[in-house]
Amino acid sequence: MNMKLIQVDEASRKFLLRAGESSYAFGVNAAGLLSSLHWGGLVERLEDLPSTREIECGRHRDPRRAAMDFQEYPAWGGEFYNEPALKVDFPDGVRCSILKYASHSVNADELVVTLKDHGYPLEVELHYQVREDSALLERHAVITNRGEGTVTLRSAQSACFHPPRNGKEYRLSHLAGRWGGEYMIKRQNLAQGKLVLENRTGLSTTFAHPFFALDEGGATEDAGRVWFGTLLWSGNWKIAVEQDPYEQPCVTGGVSDFDFAWPLKPGESFETPPFLCGVSDDGFGGASRALHAHQRRHIAPKIEAERTLPVLFNSWASMGVQVDEAKILEVAGKAAAVGAELFVIDDGWQAALGDWWPDPVKFPNGLKPIVDKVKALGMDFGLWVEVESFEVKSQLYQRHPDWAMSFPGREVYMNVRDDIGRRSVLLNFAREDVADHILESLRTLVRETGISYLKLDMNALFTNPGWDAAPEAERQTLWVKHARNLHKVFGALKTEFPALLLENCAAGGGRGDLSMDAVFGRINRSDNQDTLDILAMHEGFTWLHPSKMAGGACHISDATYHINLRRTPMKTQAYAGMMGSLAIGKNLPQCSQTELDEIAAHVKLHKRLRHVVQHGELHRLASLRDTPYAAFEFVSPDKSEAVLFVFGQCMQFAFKVPPFRLQGLDDGQLYAMEVHGANPQRDGFTATPEGYPPQSGQALRELGLRLELLGDYDAQIVHLKAKAPSRN
Ligand code: DGJ
Repeated sequence: MNMKLIQVDEASRKFLLRAGESSYAFGVNAAGLLSSLHWGGLVERLEDLPSTREIECGRHRDPRRAAMDFQEYPAWGGEFYNEPALKVDFPDGVRCSILKYASHSVNADELVVTLKDHGYPLEVELHYQVREDSALLERHAVITNRGEGTVTLRSAQSACFHPPRNGKEYRLSHLAGRWGGEYMIKRQNLAQGKLVLENRTGLSTTFAHPFFALDEGGATEDAGRVWFGTLLWSGNWKIAVEQDPYEQPCVTGGVSDFDFAWPLKPGESFETPPFLCGVSDDGFGGASRALHAHQRRHIAPKIEAERTLPVLFNSWASMGVQVDEAKILEVAGKAAAVGAELFVIDDGWQAALGDWWPDPVKFPNGLKPIVDKVKALGMDFGLWVEVESFEVKSQLYQRHPDWAMSFPGREVYMNVRDDIGRRSVLLNFAREDVADHILESLRTLVRETGISYLKLDMNALFTNPGWDAAPEAERQTLWVKHARNLHKVFGALKTEFPALLLENCAAGGGRGDLSMDAVFGRINRSDNQDTLDILAMHEGFTWLHPSKMAGGACHISDATYHINLRRTPMKTQAYAGMMGSLAIGKNLPQCSQTELDEIAAHVKLHKRLRHVVQHGELHRLASLRDTPYAAFEFVSPDKSEAVLFVFGQCMQFAFKVPPFRLQGLDDGQLYAMEVHGANPQRDGFTATPEGYPPQSGQALRELGLRLELLGDYDAQIVHLKAKAPSRN
């Protein structure tokens, strides 16, 4: 596209940004406030934008003040009553601010607009980044104290967005959940008032994910306009979705302002986390694909974006913490025989939380004999850690009880895990000495063991988030500093060991925000690996993250039987796992040869398909939320291959599943098809044992692919490969 990414009208002070096929515009109004002009479809000419005055008109009893309701970055002050992006306490006790346009600059693909308080030496830079190869706009703010006294930030949000007011009722879609049920899609219509999505647990997700999507009520997976955004932050956050009395929606989000007070000393700045936003005209599927493309190009390290993830064996599901040298050596050979490429010892190998060396009783010879054997078997080796906690029995706790996260004078809060009989305390990771110590321990661990994979776990929510020895003014900074240090430690580790594959796990999906993807290449979507539950969670998971990152310890396993007391066939477990980064969690020494052969066959199939699944574009074709079947299709970037996964939940009344109309294929190509998992007795009304007759991309889109799903937990895979052009 020829259209410039950033256009500025210096005379009228209007700014027009392009992000893919969408535009975002704002201008300076008569009062000097920065006011939103457009967020929606493409507007190519700057001259076509309305004036700030036209937008304001009629929205207030005094139209001159109206723009305060939809400022790009409203501070609390004056006649402003909505959610503020900024709330400050000045040294003299004044608690309000009015931010007015001061200047702007354009640097390649970034526009920076500087606002200044009308009276006090406080400056806010608003950063807007748009890129040729992304459909998303990235915003963040930098607040700087140019005065001589300390200013306290009470709220410092990343951005404020205004979808257009268009006479229709907006519907909010977001992701919420709980342990074992993360990434659930929730919906509700907006009405006048404010709805707050937030997480105040110290972690970023599980109960709510920092993501919103708004549509006019009718958007589907593949059609309709969706305005969406996600915050790149791994700590407490808040996204306020408001609708004012004039039906103007507004979304304001950033670091949570709960128990937050950030002292800005003279000359200091506070940089907010980025907030990514976009507009999709291809429904929720289009929004996901835009996020995935952006994640691959601009968030994930290159090595992770390009990596094809290995098949992993993880000890957790079959052994729990009862790991030892003999057991591990026994299972390693079996894991290699079924095709695992990465062998992971999960929780239980360590001397204690805090003491990140091998338990001398379980591993009297250290990890060396294990590493040697695993490598001799042709697998990579990986370990688990939970570095934000320490056990009371640990040497670290004995040496540094003062490193516990706590309020002085209050008893240290003990996290008790009944499942493994562990009592631990959270570390005050906001402290620099703690973060430095953990980084050093991790460096040593990686160097000494030669691991190629490290799983970060976190099994506690913040409790008693105190301050230790911090000066009074810094006692409400822990939430932010903890998250920053987490990024710093793992960012530094990844820089030092770029090939190290890091898994992001926090009691399942407790830190499933997109900022973690900047370092972590795999995510424990949930501890719940019940196949039906996975199918539901995977939809929400792929609203944010590329499908391939869906990891965890045990897709092929019956370890989470207890969750629903449901047993699903191994084939269904394996096929669901193949949509992400496949993990085996079966108790291999106890498996029969038939079971081992079956696991090996699934792993083999996965290895044949994973280049398409892991590097292709995802189209979610059917959802268990709407139908008794689900379908996910992956198309390779050059459209020469595709893989379709279909799952039947509980088929009844001889129900014939409607044809799956495939998306994203090349109309003119003829695709050969290979079907896996079809029921040998009943299938075959159109399929041959080798597959289906070849069909063109056009026919697959318009007529669809007929598959038969039967019984309970049926699962099939169709692998499509372009044979030749179907026509000239
Ligand atoms: C919770 C994680 O989600 C699991 O995968 C496992 O690593 C356990 N913790 C270990 O304690």
